[in-house]
Amino acid sequence: MDVHVVDHPLAKARLSTMRDARTDSAAFRAALHELTVMLVYEATRDMPVRIERIHTPVARTDGYALASPPLLVPVLRAGLGMADQAHKLIPDAQMGFVGLARDEETLKPTPYLESLPESLADRPVLVLDPMLATGGSMEYTIRLLTDRGATDVTAICALAAPEGIAHLEKTGLPLRVVTASIDERLNDSGFIVPGLGDAGDRQYGAV
Ligand code: PRP
Repeated sequence: MDVHVVDHPLAKARLSTMRDARTDSAAFRAALHELTVMLVYEATRDMPVRIERIHTPVARTDGYALASPPLLVPVLRAGLGMADQAHKLIPDAQMGFVGLARDEETLKPTPYLESLPESLADRPVLVLDPMLATGGSMEYTIRLLTDRGATDVTAICALAAPEGIAHLEKTGLPLRVVTASIDERLNDSGFIVPGLGDAGDRQYGAV
């Protein structure tokens, strides 16, 4: 499994704002928006392009567009805070949705929403979720996608725990992870340390 850490000073700065317990919801959402732009930018770096001749006001030249715009899949709730920014960067992308809530006791994901195209064969997919903790939610989401024929899936996460990366590696699922940080560990409650708390609650408030 390919894991790419976007080790850029601006990404580190936005992530630090998100980590800081003094950051309020509005500032947290703004920092996540900006970090998402950087992560999606890196995640799409090697995507194939389609070339067509265009005219500038001066001459003819090659113009470029993504050959196959990816399907964007935010994982609700927390991934909603990444959806608009990813969509702005790739306006012709379609969007699917997966809703999962992690059980606080068992740490297993409980699904409550699934809205995805029937076939994903030959379509790249970008999954958007700020947090990769145990990896259970991401594994569940990736299996929904591969069951529909997806073979080119990239998980875009603000931060990840080593345990979650190791878990996904063990599944053998076809997956690439792009993240701004691999943190130290998970604590006994399944929170990433040092982490940033709960990305859903930090954006939208506890429910
Ligand atoms: C968080 C996070 C991931 C998941 C990560 O969501 O956004 O989806 O937990 O944990 P895992 O890797 O151990 O599965 P949560 O279930 O808290 O829901 P929320 O987005 O509605 O806050």
